[in-house]
Amino acid sequence: MIIEPRMRGFICLTAHPDGAAQNLKNQIEYVKSKGKINGAKKVLVIGASTGFGLASRITSAFGSDAATIGVFFEKEPSEGKTASPGWYNSAAFEKEAHAAGLYAKSINGDAFSNEVKQQTIELIKNDLEKVDLVIYSLASPVRTHPVTGVTHRSVLKPIGQNFTNKTVDFHTGKVSEISIEPCKDEDIENTVTVMGGEDWQMWMKALNEAGVLADGVLTVAYSYIGPKLTEPVYRKGTIGRAKDHLEATAFEITDNLKSVNGKAFVSVNKALVTQASSAIPVIPLYISLLYKVMKEEGIHEGTIEQIQRLYQERLYTNGEIPVDEKGRIRIDDWEMRDDIQEKVSKLWDEATTENLSEIGDLEGYRKDFYHLFGFEVPGVDYHKDTNELIIVESLK
Ligand code: NAI
Repeated sequence: MIIEPRMRGFICLTAHPDGAAQNLKNQIEYVKSKGKINGAKKVLVIGASTGFGLASRITSAFGSDAATIGVFFEKEPSEGKTASPGWYNSAAFEKEAHAAGLYAKSINGDAFSNEVKQQTIELIKNDLEKVDLVIYSLASPVRTHPVTGVTHRSVLKPIGQNFTNKTVDFHTGKVSEISIEPCKDEDIENTVTVMGGEDWQMWMKALNEAGVLADGVLTVAYSYIGPKLTEPVYRKGTIGRAKDHLEATAFEITDNLKSVNGKAFVSVNKALVTQASSAIPVIPLYISLLYKVMKEEGIHEGTIEQIQRLYQERLYTNGEIPVDEKGRIRIDDWEMRDDIQEKVSKLWDEATTENLSEIGDLEGYRKDFYHLFGFEVPGVDYHKDTNELIIVESLK
């Protein structure tokens, strides 16, 4: 079929397998160009099909020749209907990994469930015996709790007061004011239940009890801080509470991994265009200004550049892993530089519908968004009849 983007709000209902494959090849080439990383050899990535999780899987495999197991929740294709982008990314990943002689298997299901945890443990036992790195990179709006059976929904809202600020519709470039009502009390708890550290801890406990964690195992989850500008809706909003919880959980996990000399870290990453971040009001405007400033300074990074640097310059340096005063790894250091933030904040005050395409990188935002779904990728022929029924080799 001829596959075209079909947008609805901040999601795209279609995805292009050839675009996904080309994106993946580009990311592999980038990792290879940076040389070998003395990293983990057996890696489990939870949330492995898009964004930072996919970049982690690629960096492990092509930077350290690691065997990888990827867990994700993606929609398979059917006749005339494309799969979700993470499905095509994973199909392309396995193809490339297998061609390079690397072990790569995937599990498609709800990572919050006990069943998927057990299935993963069985796969590790059968094929890898143990893993020495566990990346936890889930981003989800819902979680059905495996003990209570209750389905919790996360919300992205300020706490205690209304938040009014600028935002942009990145499809039209229209800058407008948005006012977000404060959350209800239960929203905080629900968001923490979905995006906080409980599930990460459940994973690590289950893996440890099953004896599939290697001595010295590392586990890393991803967090975000960001600037004052977005604080009310991000770091001091409901999602921020979840991130506080995630960060606090790292210490508890480290305590629980003493028997295998394991350590848990949270890495604070840069704001980037992913399916998760485009859904947060105000963030797309911030990102488009940030991209402009960071590109001008020659320090712009995408997910693959961020994660490659995280591995090479933080996790696997042969020295101590550097952390901030709260014990977090910081790979958002370039985003948070004073000079960068000062420039973004000045542009923020100036931004209007009329000038945004000039003072901000709206085009870069839009392109990155299309790329997430495999569209507008250079070198791909979008007029060609394309097979939508692509399989993920290990899920045949
Ligand atoms: P993403 O939306 O690109 O990836 C989410 C992944 O989770 C996908 O692989 C998806 O299949 C998987 N997933 C979702 N629900 C699942 C479920 N129930 N079972 C199994 N897999 C499931 O998200 P992104 O942006 O890469 O986020 C990953 C982490 O990085 C999150 O913790 C996010 O808060 C954090 N982060 C994101 C930043 C950004 O700007 N995008 C910045 C800093 C941190």
